[in-house]
Amino acid sequence: MMSKKIAPSLLAADFGNLQRDVEMVNKSDADWHHIDVMDGVFVPNISYGMPVVKSIKNHATKPLDVHLMIVDPDRYITTFAELGADVLTVHYEACKHLHRTLQAIKDAGMKAGVALNPHTSVRLLEDTIQDIDLVCLMSVNPGFGGQSFIENTFQKVADLKKLIHKKSTATLIEIDGGVNSNNAKQLVDAGADVLVAGSFVFKSENPTETIKNLKEVIR
Ligand code: DX5
Ligand code: ZN
Repeated sequence: MMSKKIAPSLLAADFGNLQRDVEMVNKSDADWHHIDVMDGVFVPNISYGMPVVKSIKNHATKPLDVHLMIVDPDRYITTFAELGADVLTVHYEACKHLHRTLQAIKDAGMKAGVALNPHTSVRLLEDTIQDIDLVCLMSVNPGFGGQSFIENTFQKVADLKKLIHKKSTATLIEIDGGVNSNNAKQLVDAGADVLVAGSFVFKSENPTETIKNLKEVIR
């Protein structure tokens, strides 16, 4: 059994001290750096783009888990490969030709992820799950950090786990939004492999300790 992962979301970091916060993640028990790119069109918010991702990459020592909340993500697949993304996640709702997009991500040398909004059923992945390295279940409506966890996510994790078993794929299940020490254990028990945590980590008094505790909760 592969160990469960924590991916702190840098959206909640102090952008005036980005290097410091990336280095905190480097030295912590966290597994990945989660990077949220928003275009103000797919979601009602704009976060940061390529120059910032490049700066993060300059300091990061762990894999970059890039979550694109943008329309027509095909335009930027090679760009994010060049920037050093290890996992590139696109939204199901933003892709007309998801199968082609997944192949393009893999051809560019990255792991291919698909994110589902809270209203999007995991059933819609029946015919692509064998091509997906990671499914990111949004447990809040994407666009902002600090929102509260949507409880229906537990059912979606269970449903997705069933689909992955049925198709015998090695797809990882990632949960993004409102993750904290109260729901982490139950998510992992339901089948989650990667937990993204933004505010819970960065707005805590001691982020390094918070990450350590989260890792212990899900071990
Ligand atoms: C939301 C982003 C998340 C966000 C999570 O649209 O995809 O990664 O940073 O933040 P928290 O953990 O604060 O809900
Ligand atoms: Zn995210």
